[in-house]
Amino acid sequence: MLFHYIKETRLYVKEQKKLGKSIGLVPTMGYLHQGHLSLIKKAKAENDVVVVSVFINPIQFGPNDDFEKYPRDLQRDYNLALDAGADLLFNPSLEEMYPEKSRSFVLVQELTDNLCGASRPGHFQGVTTVVSKLFNIIPADRAYFGMKDAQQVAVITQMVKDLNFDIEIVPCPIIREKDGLALSSRNVYLNNKERQSALLLSQSLGKAEELIKQGERTAEIIVDSITSFLEKDPNCNIDYVEIVDFHTLKDLKILKNKVLIALAVKIGKTRLLDNIVMEVE
Ligand code: PAF
Repeated sequence: MLFHYIKETRLYVKEQKKLGKSIGLVPTMGYLHQGHLSLIKKAKAENDVVVVSVFINPIQFGPNDDFEKYPRDLQRDYNLALDAGADLLFNPSLEEMYPEKSRSFVLVQELTDNLCGASRPGHFQGVTTVVSKLFNIIPADRAYFGMKDAQQVAVITQMVKDLNFDIEIVPCPIIREKDGLALSSRNVYLNNKERQSALLLSQSLGKAEELIKQGERTAEIIVDSITSFLEKDPNCNIDYVEIVDFHTLKDLKILKNKVLIALAVKIGKTRLLDNIVMEVE
């Protein structure tokens, strides 16, 4: 099924709940890839009914971001989502989601200060606002998010806790191409040469992992190693390389416990993210 309106979507979810069915929600901006499909499959394995939302949310894009050219293909998304086990694709229009100028926003403090929050002001406020709206429209039992956007997962998990949303956030592993490239809808922007450069992201994280396995614990040394590896390629324009505590997202000087090593790198005009999470003794 494909719904474009909030009213019919609410009614459907309400009816399913009345029948005692559990609901899994997979929020997306469409142009689905295997990463999204893995979320849908997991949602289907853990819930009776799966709703996939496809909505390119303008308020999480900055003025120089790629809102206008973000890839779109609803028919393809619909087929892929249903094949992966979705029961309903919710694809509201801009007017349906934002019929008038919004005066209310959801802001998660502190966790949004660094990493992507620092380089994309207002981005996370846009994400938490639209995700709150989706949670109100589709009061699911569980919602599924990919760990490629690790900060987004941390921010939404905090929001759910702080605002008492009755919904479990399920983080799901990054899905990669065979050569290591983390799947992203934005990978379609890369030409052949850029795609080769994009491989350096996962490779640099692999090198960092090796260093840590060999006993290195100083964040600066690991960040420097990633940075110099990426800087060898003039196509790589580093936005950030940071090592933070996985739970608090606070910068670490010495690696301890669960750490997140996160990068954002511009390859040509395309900004790509990648990360690894490691348990460090
Ligand atoms: O990760 C995304 O695709 C988006 O940020 C989300 C969670 C669907 C909100 O627009």
